[in-house]
Amino acid sequence: MTTPLDLKKHLSQRAQRVMGTLGKQTSVPIPGLINLGSGTPDFAPPPPVFEAMQAAIRAGKAQYTAWTGIPELREAIAEKLRAENGLHYDPATEIIATAGAQEALMLTLMTLLDPGDEALTPSPNYDEYTRDALILGGTLVPVPTTPETNFTVTAAQIEAAITPRTKAIVIVTPNNPTGTMLSRETLTQIAAVATRHDLIVVSDEIYEYYRFDGYEHVSMASLPGMRERTITINSFSKSFAMTGLRLGYLAAPAEIVEAMLPFHHAMMICPNVIAQYGGVAALTTPRDWFNDVLTEYDRRRRVWMSALDSMGLPYTPPQGAYYVFFDVRRTGLTSAQFVARARAEAQLIFQPGTIGGGAGEGFIRGALTKASPEFEQGLERLAAFVRSLT
Ligand SMILES: Cc1ncc(COP(=O)(O)O)c(C=O)c1O
Repeated sequence: MTTPLDLKKHLSQRAQRVMGTLGKQTSVPIPGLINLGSGTPDFAPPPPVFEAMQAAIRAGKAQYTAWTGIPELREAIAEKLRAENGLHYDPATEIIATAGAQEALMLTLMTLLDPGDEALTPSPNYDEYTRDALILGGTLVPVPTTPETNFTVTAAQIEAAITPRTKAIVIVTPNNPTGTMLSRETLTQIAAVATRHDLIVVSDEIYEYYRFDGYEHVSMASLPGMRERTITINSFSKSFAMTGLRLGYLAAPAEIVEAMLPFHHAMMICPNVIAQYGGVAALTTPRDWFNDVLTEYDRRRRVWMSALDSMGLPYTPPQGAYYVFFDVRRTGLTSAQFVARARAEAQLIFQPGTIGGGAGEGFIRGALTKASPEFEQGLERLAAFVRSLT
């Protein structure tokens, strides 16, 4: 009999640091389970996206493109940023098309953080930033926010967390998982802190189109003096329901983009060529198709809020993104216990609020991404489950 190899000793410390942080993925949908917390939009991309991808296949597009993406795509991105976000980037030198925002944020942190370095972010936060920093030997330092202030961060809280190792401030607006947005006023104050301490700002804007009750989306890089110190991250995943096509982008000053290229090349060389043609069509199709989506998501948001009101569960009123962050502390369960029992006893899937750090303890991330009638069935099950607990 051969002795089994001790494979763990062969793994890098980097690999060991993040081992287990992802949890297990359920690859096969389990019949009867309703996922009321999913981050995947439930609508289809507009038809021109598929037509452009089919045309690209028919034209035999299968080879590498420019590392930063086909020129038409970068031009369409630059035009979108100009027209919608008030941002001016040179498509030749200041934009990289990436394999989703996920690659863009890893590229960003690789370019900014050395081992021991810190990036600050309001927490609860998108968990991938934490893992990326950990892989790199740096730290994503959470700036905890509280339910009392609807998980909204202040510039003073961010400033108080700055240390000599702080390199960057990461903001995500609209936010996953809390559904809150940063106002122009708060962004301006954060911009002043970044400038005073000479920090880079990473601005993840992938939920920019999901806004309710008239909330305004402001791009950090559009504020005076911020273009030079901001890396803007965006994606086709949420804006066009293209999560599986893996296409995103970042825009930053040319010097930063140039520094990112070796990392981008090492991981991707270039994003998927067919998806890139789909991306051009997505950006050049008039966006009125999205009105119906937003109306439906707003309807679900209102149904969610009134259901939670009847259950007696408080929540952070969702301003943007497509999440509903609700408070289960009165059930006496932790976030993890609530998620486990909701799955076992009510066949419901949620994300625990703690997925984005300890500040979300006692909270659950629900989502607006489930269509009727499963949506209403899920909420009924949730109500019955909550009744059984209290
Ligand atoms: C805040 C945030 N940033 C980035 C991503 C990654 O998105 P993509 O599919 O573009 O890689 C997600 C995905 O849920 C997210 O919520």
